[in-house]
Amino acid sequence: MTKVRFIGADGEVREVDADAGARLLDVAQADGQPLEGTCEGQMACSTCHVIIAPDDFARLPPASANEEDMLDLALGATRTSRLACQIWLAEELAEITVKIPGQFRNMQGR
Ligand code: FES
Repeated sequence: MTKVRFIGADGEVREVDADAGARLLDVAQADGQPLEGTCEGQMACSTCHVIIAPDDFARLPPASANEEDMLDLALGATRTSRLACQIWLAEELAEITVKIPGQFRNMQGR
């Protein structure tokens, strides 16, 4: 079980428990976070871009070259940006803090 703390674009903090092995994008969407995930994990859209807290970022397996390339195109990407569709929550990850960037809000009127 991983405790996922979402920090919304508006600063609202929400905590949810996620099963081991869950994909971060799925956890975020189930919680109603505004991540479109348009390409459903094909690394072709970057609408699942999130910013990971630096300590947690260091604990994740590194991004693939393809993910890095896509992050280069993401609006507002930072050094601890990741694609949520490429993060599976490992059993040993007790908690993770994930910031939702603001750029994608309202794209679908949500
Ligand atoms: Fe498109 Fe993650 S869902 S890159």
